[in-house]
Amino acid sequence: MPALINPSILSADFANLERDLGAIGTADFAHVDVMDNHFVPNLTLGLPVFERLAQVSPVPLDAHLMIEDPDRWAPQYAEAGAASVTFHAEAAQAPVRLARELRRQGARTGVALRPATPVEPFLDLLTEVDMILVMTVEPGFGGQSFIEGTLPKIRRAREAISAAGLDVWIQVDGGVSRSTIERAAEAGANVFVAGSAVYGADDVPAEIETLRRLAGAHAH
Ligand code: DX5
Ligand code: ZN
Repeated sequence: MPALINPSILSADFANLERDLGAIGTADFAHVDVMDNHFVPNLTLGLPVFERLAQVSPVPLDAHLMIEDPDRWAPQYAEAGAASVTFHAEAAQAPVRLARELRRQGARTGVALRPATPVEPFLDLLTEVDMILVMTVEPGFGGQSFIEGTLPKIRRAREAISAAGLDVWIQVDGGVSRSTIERAAEAGANVFVAGSAVYGADDVPAEIETLRRLAGAHAH
């Protein structure tokens, strides 16, 4: 499974989102954090902005919905052009119904788990999703440090996916950098979100390449 690097535009300049999407043209996806100030204590952007980002982005969009009532809102992100739509397990009323709806719309679908949310309830439902997002910080803000205690959850998820013979991606998000990406990859993650590490680098394309190489050396 190749290592994919998805820079988070939460660390971009919000007055220059088109320019900053242009800077990550060598990435695999652009990770877009949608926060509603209810599911998390922060507010970012919503559908009207997301629709425009999908029109101007050089890479496909990976929507991470940190919002209440994703059952209602998530399909509109697929409709707006998201290649991948990830909703939170803690917020969804009917995660299987929602995942099926997103796939029917032609998007990849992911289910996200806060650090304290166990993966076990989802291990029997792996055929219903394309990706599990294991949050490696509490969602809400960029620039936090990687929670090492999430590594066993990544490992258990990867073991279950391998045992089932499935091609489900595992994404990690939060505190991913040169100093943590190898441990996440070794545990079984293959999609790496990095906000401050990428946009804080002097040479953004070189940082993407470095992260991809470090993760790829531990690919499962
Ligand atoms: C946090 C967001 C992340 C954030 C990561 O809730 O989901 O995508 O941008 O930022 P870094 O990489 O700086 O931890
Ligand atoms: Zn995110």
